[in-house]
Amino acid sequence: MKAVLCEQYSGFENLKLTETDRPQLVPGAVRIRIHYASVSYAISLMVSGRYQRKMPLPFIPGTEVSGEILECGDGVDRFKPGDRVAAIVDAGAYGEEVVTPDATVYPVPAGVPLARAVGIPLSFGTAATALERGGLEAGKTVLVCGAGGALGLAAVEIASLKGARVIASASSDAKLDIARKSGAEVLINYNTQNLLDVVRAETGGRGVDIVFDPVGGDQFEQLIRSTAIGGNILTLGFASGVIPQAPLNLLLVKNISLHGVNFSEYIGWGKVDRRQEFASQIQELMAELFQAAAGGRLNVRDSQTFEFDEAIQAIASVVERRSVGKVILRIC
Ligand SMILES: NC(=O)c1ccc[n+]([C@@H]2O[C@H](COP(=O)([O-])OP(=O)(O)OC[C@H]3O[C@@H](n4cnc5c(N)ncnc54)[C@H](OP(=O)(O)O)[C@@H]3O)[C@@H](O)[C@H]2O)c1
Repeated sequence: MKAVLCEQYSGFENLKLTETDRPQLVPGAVRIRIHYASVSYAISLMVSGRYQRKMPLPFIPGTEVSGEILECGDGVDRFKPGDRVAAIVDAGAYGEEVVTPDATVYPVPAGVPLARAVGIPLSFGTAATALERGGLEAGKTVLVCGAGGALGLAAVEIASLKGARVIASASSDAKLDIARKSGAEVLINYNTQNLLDVVRAETGGRGVDIVFDPVGGDQFEQLIRSTAIGGNILTLGFASGVIPQAPLNLLLVKNISLHGVNFSEYIGWGKVDRRQEFASQIQELMAELFQAAAGGRLNVRDSQTFEFDEAIQAIASVVERRSVGKVILRIC
């Protein structure tokens, strides 16, 4: 089969589209014919050996797919050949087929195109899990950083769907425009506006109930100052490349809770593989998200789509910060 192969840990520019063997079907796993695979910043780290999970070489990168079931291994009764699915995989998404344990494979309802389905499991799963931890409910105010990114846009969608008021922060008006279309009510271009001033003005000086931060960086202290008394800050990632230091006195004085949220833990990517333990909980969450998408309540945006032989350009668009929302590869 055709696949993008990582033969050595170096830059993503050295990935090659080549012919490789089909993966072997094993008990408890399914074989998926891949239609779409998602692209994320983490892929660039994985192929350069700088990610927390190091895959043995050579390997096929990519961790999220949508497609159809080709065959099921012994012990799999949730699926049958022909079923439309989306899946989180340990690796192997940038190939024509992948074999993966069925625990992190999710049915895609008829109303959701596979090109949109591929954008749901990781970004929406993470955003939903985090926002629940932060006590999301109707009427709360949520500040979403990196709101034009894949995770940020998912958070904007979910918070809006639940009836929260969303304040979106991003580096450009183009990214903010997409956030607005996804439900954000207040837009902050942090290059031209002072984030804290806008939050204070928009919340009558009170601050927001929940901060959703996948970016980190130097503005973290502003995020704490933007949080209401008793509020929750969700730290999800450091896309800026800078891991912030939190002044704990500010958290203490305002009774603020700071939550580290790591979705990897629920899908088998933690230090110990706990995917079976969390499988039914995450399958339930995915069923809710896919039903919301099928019913038009969750407006999963069209992704920026690259062809299979453009994997390097697709990763570059994310790494160089030109992408808005999810970037995907069309495999077939
Ligand atoms: N905790 C978890 O379970 C979990 C799950 C998935 C992803 N993540 C992490 O969350 C982060 C965001 O993921 P994502 O999929 O939303 O990524 P993404 O689509 O690339 O978006 C990241 C956003 O970060 C902002 N950013 C600021 N400085 C940046 C820089 N120097 N380089 C690149 N982006 C920069 C950009 O927004 P502006 O241009 O508007 O600043 C960009 O839109 C990543 O670090 C990822 O590894 C964590």
